[in-house]
Amino acid sequence: MRKVAVSIRGFVKRFGSVVAVDGLNLDIFDGEIFGFLGPNGSGKSTTLLTIATVYKPSKGDVEVYGFSVTREGDAVRKLVGIAFQEPKALWVDNPYELLVWHAMVVGYSLTDARKVVREVMEELGLWEHRNKLFSELSGGTRKKVEIAKLFIQKPKLAIFDEPTAQLDVTTKHFVWGKIRDMNKEGSTIIVATNDMVEAERLSDRVGIIYRGTLRALGSPSELKDMIPGGDIIEIRVEGFINESILRKLGDILEARRLDLSNGVLKVYVNKGEERIATALDILTRENIKVRSVAMKEPSLDDVFFYFTGAKLEEVRG
Ligand SMILES: Nc1ncnc2c1ncn2[C@@H]1O[C@H](COP(=O)(O)OP(=O)(O)OP(=O)(O)O)[C@@H](O)[C@H]1O
Ligand SMILES: [Mg+2]
Repeated sequence: MRKVAVSIRGFVKRFGSVVAVDGLNLDIFDGEIFGFLGPNGSGKSTTLLTIATVYKPSKGDVEVYGFSVTREGDAVRKLVGIAFQEPKALWVDNPYELLVWHAMVVGYSLTDARKVVREVMEELGLWEHRNKLFSELSGGTRKKVEIAKLFIQKPKLAIFDEPTAQLDVTTKHFVWGKIRDMNKEGSTIIVATNDMVEAERLSDRVGIIYRGTLRALGSPSELKDMIPGGDIIEIRVEGFINESILRKLGDILEARRLDLSNGVLKVYVNKGEERIATALDILTRENIKVRSVAMKEPSLDDVFFYFTGAKLEEVRG
């Protein structure tokens, strides 16, 4: 059994009449990078803020390494660090002071705090902005300061709420690398994101949340396999394929759909990678010359739309 880092049980969060999270059950394992994916307003930030003890559950409970966020907040706060979706500067005027203060709060001596803050600020291209006022920083730069907090803190459980939403491409790749490094060094990671590329590049497992409930859970490739007929095997052939061969292919491969046009046969199947060999075998026996084969997987975008309903009809079509 894998060790559980975060256990969410029957978690409900209401704000007045708004139900932000509606009975969430979810385990996040020690040592994994967990991607929390969902459209705007689906309850991602509310859940993350509850794990970090900012909010209290209206119902149910959340445990972090066995400590309850409702009853043992202090113990939870020792284990968790969060980079907020909307960075707030609090009362400190400039990024350098803020990060040195944060480093000392999480246990560094003043000398070590200054050292680690400089290192991380240089890495993120923040050093030149160290003495600016927060109000003078661009949105992306403010976000980098927010993320820097966790790279300094290296908490047991690091929560990033849409870490790269405002970052340029180069910084985005750098931040992904740093998050992976943190994970290798022992931090369990939760990343909330709307960005499929980010979810796929980073996550061991992804949870799709929609309207406050969990719609799907699994590794990116498991989720793709949950879409019926989600893989497309594309076979370029020479010559003619008659109806009976097409029917045979469809039956044996359990295809949901088969299209042949301009010498390209498209077979819509589940677990396409396991069926390519069979497809080629059948065609060879029927003396049909295959010129090339390719397999297309659905993107995580397709999965996301499938489970959140937005493109259900197209996927089914
Ligand atoms: N402090 C609050 N007071 C009232 N309603 C809130 C509050 N925080 C969140 N909500 C509502 O709860 C729901 C979930 O919001 P939440 O911020 O958790 O979504 P999200 O998945 O993080 O969205 P986004 O992708 O836009 O960040 C929304 O309907 C939101 O308006
Ligand atoms: Mg959010």
